[in-house]
Amino acid sequence: VAVTVLPKNNRESARAPSLDLLQSLIGDDLKRVNHVILDHMSSRVALIPELASHIIAAGGKRLRPMLTLASAKLCGYAGIRHIPLAASVEFIHTATLLHDDVVDGSDLRRGNSTANVVWGNPASVLVGDFLFSRAFQLMVEDGSIEVLRILANASAVIAEGEVHQLITVSDMATTEETYLEVIAAKTGALFAAACRIGAVVAERPVVEAEALERFGANLGMAFQLTDDALDYTAPGSHRGKNVGDDFRDGKITLPVVLAYQRGSETERRFWQRTLERMEQAPGDLEEARSLLDRHGTIRATVERARDYGAIAHEALRRFPEGPVQEALSEAVEYAIERTL
Ligand code: IPE
Ligand code: IPE
Ligand code: MG
Ligand code: MG
Repeated sequence: VAVTVLPKNNRESARAPSLDLLQSLIGDDLKRVNHVILDHMSSRVALIPELASHIIAAGGKRLRPMLTLASAKLCGYAGIRHIPLAASVEFIHTATLLHDDVVDGSDLRRGNSTANVVWGNPASVLVGDFLFSRAFQLMVEDGSIEVLRILANASAVIAEGEVHQLITVSDMATTEETYLEVIAAKTGALFAAACRIGAVVAERPVVEAEALERFGANLGMAFQLTDDALDYTAPGSHRGKNVGDDFRDGKITLPVVLAYQRGSETERRFWQRTLERMEQAPGDLEEARSLLDRHGTIRATVERARDYGAIAHEALRRFPEGPVQEALSEAVEYAIERTL
């Protein structure tokens, strides 16, 4: 007799957390954001829209602009200022990706060849600068010095985070604390700003702006921690980018920091050879994976993501219950669970 064992919680197990709910709530606004994006990447210099549309049309989750739209909605905003500002947020994100792929020497992004592979590093850097500038033009058109302050600060912090990360490359002395500082800057800052400006356009009290900022910052931490775990575990080019890039680049991410701390003398010599001296041979990535597995550091990294996720959920409690709050909650779970 075949026995069907029903999962304890049918509702939860029926569907993996996704961005679908968020998408369905702010989908119309997001279409408008995409129009603003397309309108603002035009230029008489054909290479600009050519290169920009290569990365922008390839998709991307549009998670950060969705956060701006949803945050504004959560705050009861009924105007239209959040549309160009969400586009501005995505322009900043796209600019950092163009620059980041040059810095990381990546060749796959959003399932396509990176712009640096197709057009070279100089064009990628310069079009990245163009998109950054477009972002600031959109903010100036909006006219809020407060929004400008938030996104200008975030942009400076992101750049700082990327430079900070650059000097930790191949440095096995990198601590968990330093790693967390780096990701808070390079990823947390834009998530935080994207959310905060939703409260600012809605003219909500500072405590609410701060709660949304805290929500975004912690969601961003969870997102990047998971991403760094996935860089070792994702099947193939699952996320539209290559697996194993961090190892090949000598990036000291949390799975490695923990494995190094927990490793034997022999294991530490392996990490020193492969990541510090960058002497990598075929089979080393597989060996690295098995060391991470032995010390449970992928699991520990995802646990850390959950800790940040819990703070993000907590920050949402200040806001009225309802579909938008629920969708933002699910975005936190999505950020963490996309590993599993
Ligand atoms: C990539 O961000 C950079 C990280 C913070 C890991 P996303 O994973 O949000 O990239 P897209 O926009 O969906 O391509
Ligand atoms: C993404 O960082 C760039 C920023 C957050 C500024 P990573 O280098 O870790 O992300 P991927 O793997 O290229 O998307
Ligand atoms: Mg990168
Ligand atoms: Mg990088």
